[in-house]
Amino acid sequence: MTNGKQKILLALRVNGEVREFACYPNRTLLEVLREDLGLTGTKHGCELGECGTCTILIDNQPILSCLILALECEGREIVTVEGLSPGPGLHPLQEAFGELGAAQCGYCTPGILCTAKALLDRNRRPSRAEIRAALAGNLCRCTGYIKIFEAVELAAERMERPSE
Ligand code: FES
Ligand code: FES
Repeated sequence: MTNGKQKILLALRVNGEVREFACYPNRTLLEVLREDLGLTGTKHGCELGECGTCTILIDNQPILSCLILALECEGREIVTVEGLSPGPGLHPLQEAFGELGAAQCGYCTPGILCTAKALLDRNRRPSRAEIRAALAGNLCRCTGYIKIFEAVELAAERMERPSE
């Protein structure tokens, strides 16, 4: 048992790699990713589950990392924006966001990319309404969302026809 004041040893699988470290049991996954593991691509926003900027993938489901303790994530597959692409290049979503100007200040972008990846992995050709619904929990203060929706559509198209 721990009283919350003692560090515990954790082993988390992040972006395909097992990372072992000591942390306090009350640390959120967001804090651990950014501060203990140096994965600062995941952004720190409201910490209240309202903005979506801290979204990462756990077992390929979008999860708000500010609302889950790191110790709850042992034995699960965590993917952050740093590990989004399966290969050395960018994920098609990242390419499409860059090409279409779907990221402006970029603060919301890592969370949106993670949410969009989970959507495209379960639905190869989502409609505009399905994209809008999937991204409803990810707030963006800059783009007005249209470019974001278009970039997800472009990535979906390219993922269906990868050789073009
Ligand atoms: S930081 Fe806003 S939902 Fe997690
Ligand atoms: S690009 Fe700035 S908040 Fe979305």
